[in-house]
Amino acid sequence: MMNYYLDEEHMRREVAAGHHRQVVGGLWEELGALQARFLQEQGLTKGDRLLDIGCGTLRGGVHLIPLLGANYYGLDASQALLDAGYEQEAALLDVAFPRSNLHRTTSFEIPWPITFDFGLAQSLFTHLPVSELQRCLETITPHFRSGARLFATCWEGAGPCVIQSCGKPTFEAQDPYHYTQDVIATHTPADWSFRWIGDWGHLRGQQMMVFTRR
Ligand SMILES: C[S@@+](CC[C@H](N)C(=O)[O-])C[C@H]1O[C@@H](n2cnc3c(N)ncnc32)[C@H](O)[C@@H]1O
Repeated sequence: MMNYYLDEEHMRREVAAGHHRQVVGGLWEELGALQARFLQEQGLTKGDRLLDIGCGTLRGGVHLIPLLGANYYGLDASQALLDAGYEQEAALLDVAFPRSNLHRTTSFEIPWPITFDFGLAQSLFTHLPVSELQRCLETITPHFRSGARLFATCWEGAGPCVIQSCGKPTFEAQDPYHYTQDVIATHTPADWSFRWIGDWGHLRGQQMMVFTRR
């Protein structure tokens, strides 16, 4: 198993125990607001369509849905997390938001016949090998218009194990994963360009990158 989020029984137990905000990493308010603030600084505005890949229980979504409404879409590996996000978070917002905008998948396929202007993957690729980043970009390509941008976070590092500035160990070959900028560039499909952004104010030091659809 690539990461513990793929253990659906475990996710169900976490949700049943009332941990749906903690299980996606904690810092619920700070990291949720940061995602929405950052994307708006990058130009996200009302009317844009956004795909939140690995949206979890909508830590970012609760700040983005009030801006985007039904133009916010989310993919996640865990149905338990999507259900908790919808029932315990999105449904309490004073915004019409269709449950069908949330889709369970581990392979990044997009079930809606639409194209996106923005993508977000906050703390998704930190749990996946870089081959999955490549697979994700290849799979979502037809659903992103030319010029659309996917903002994604990662841990930066080289070698088998790195201690990040927050004290967390990350690894080349197991969750939590780190990547080098060169490795990311090598795994970026030709339909996308890759640019390193780096520090974006993440409280634990995850770095930001952006992929732009050619
Ligand atoms: C640390 S949480 C972050 C959730 C959300 N982006 C946030 O900031 O709160 C990582 C999320 O990635 C999801 N995930 C892990 N592997 C995945 C995969 N292969 N496909 C889709 N989602 C995945 C997990 O289920 C989990 O919700």
